[in-house]
Amino acid sequence: MPHLRPFVSAVVRPIPITTRAERMREMDLAGHNPFNLPADKVSIDLLSDSGTGAVSIDQQAWAQRADERYAGAESFYRYRDAVREIVPFEHVLPVHQGRAAERVLFGALLGEGAISLSNTHFDTTRANVELRGAEARDLPCPEAADLDSDFPFKGNIDVAEVERILSGPERERVGQILVTVTNNGFGGQPVSMANLEAVSEVARAHGVPLILDAARFAENAWLVTRREQGYQDWTPSEVARRAFEFADGAVASLKKDGLSPEGAFIAVRDGRVADRCEVDIIATEGFRTYGGLTGHTLEQLAVGLREVVDPNYLADRENEAAYLAARANQAGVDTVQPSGLHAIYLNAGRLLPHLSPSQFPGHALASALYREGGIRAAELGSLYLGSLDENNELVSPAPFELIRLALPRRVYDHSHLEYVGEVLADIAKDPGAVPGYRITHAPKVLRHFRCRAEPIEG
Ligand SMILES: Cc1ncc(COP(=O)(O)O)c(C=O)c1O
Repeated sequence: MPHLRPFVSAVVRPIPITTRAERMREMDLAGHNPFNLPADKVSIDLLSDSGTGAVSIDQQAWAQRADERYAGAESFYRYRDAVREIVPFEHVLPVHQGRAAERVLFGALLGEGAISLSNTHFDTTRANVELRGAEARDLPCPEAADLDSDFPFKGNIDVAEVERILSGPERERVGQILVTVTNNGFGGQPVSMANLEAVSEVARAHGVPLILDAARFAENAWLVTRREQGYQDWTPSEVARRAFEFADGAVASLKKDGLSPEGAFIAVRDGRVADRCEVDIIATEGFRTYGGLTGHTLEQLAVGLREVVDPNYLADRENEAAYLAARANQAGVDTVQPSGLHAIYLNAGRLLPHLSPSQFPGHALASALYREGGIRAAELGSLYLGSLDENNELVSPAPFELIRLALPRRVYDHSHLEYVGEVLADIAKDPGAVPGYRITHAPKVLRHFRCRAEPIEG
């Protein structure tokens, strides 16, 4: 049966149609950093899938019934029950977004000098570990290094390496194992249930808490039903619940799979950890039954958490991602294989071999997409992951020069994605014309959000 989108637009937002000259001027003003562009100068915004989705009519309707009382509001209980349908932990605490959840939970689990082991720490996650004076160590599985292979679970953590570290002298410093599902920092690749089970056994054997960074728990669950032996007949919510059962705690930005513009949760089994988090939340976010969120948002989240595990919705999401990947591949641009759900990762290093990593090919391709088509995307290469010296020269490059085209949920249709494919095809016809970049200003922390750059002429 052909694929049918399971929703239509009920309210629409016009998008700006700009000229190349306008876009050149905007990029100059933005210091050639797409994060600095005003959104009303961006036609197709693939910078992030976070908080950028469309809400449903049911989310709107329930939001009208919000209970905004300070403590114990009905909206909180509806949110908490929806989280608990998937996350089988006693303690559920709302916070305003994922990085607040990270800051609060890591405050309870990581001291100065501690180590956090992960398949890959997302950028804010890494920053929150490091701001505690702890070390964020990434241990992606070896299969992740081959961008072109069709290994289905490149998001897995390297369990043998985790075991080796926990059996050695560093054991006492390891404060948590954090598995990011799906692995946003590494191609949006999913984590298998077998991998979660294996790492949870190692974590329990060594008494280290296993935490899920579960921003895309439903998308990971969907890919498990599609790719992992034994789960074909499970529903996405059954898989998600099973995944959380392997863990001791979770943080989740609900700006992704909560289908909401804001919100997150911290969920833990251990009452003492919950207690420490609660004190921090009351002091910095809000009372424990709202955590900085309005009742309006809590209601939207309660509905969104149920809509996101609908197999028809997830099948549509897979269809969109596959469509965009196919358009990019037809344009002659390689993508990280196999494609996940929330984004397509383009191999900019391979498309622009005339640019060395020190000329930031990922940034160059992202800039070309904006210049030529008003499309905004995020670099995930040496600008994001490499290290620079005091003159802003690259001293150690990232392993790959990628850019991420993130797909906002329920927003763009095939005609928008086809347009992206056409702009990519135009760039790919003459890749040698794409200039490299030099960095003119590079803050030490969270550089890619705040840096400025300029094209290298000639
Ligand atoms: C895997 C992962 N963890 C944490 C975060 C941070 O969440 P938030 O943007 O809600 O602070 C993100 C955001 O993109 C993410 O992708």
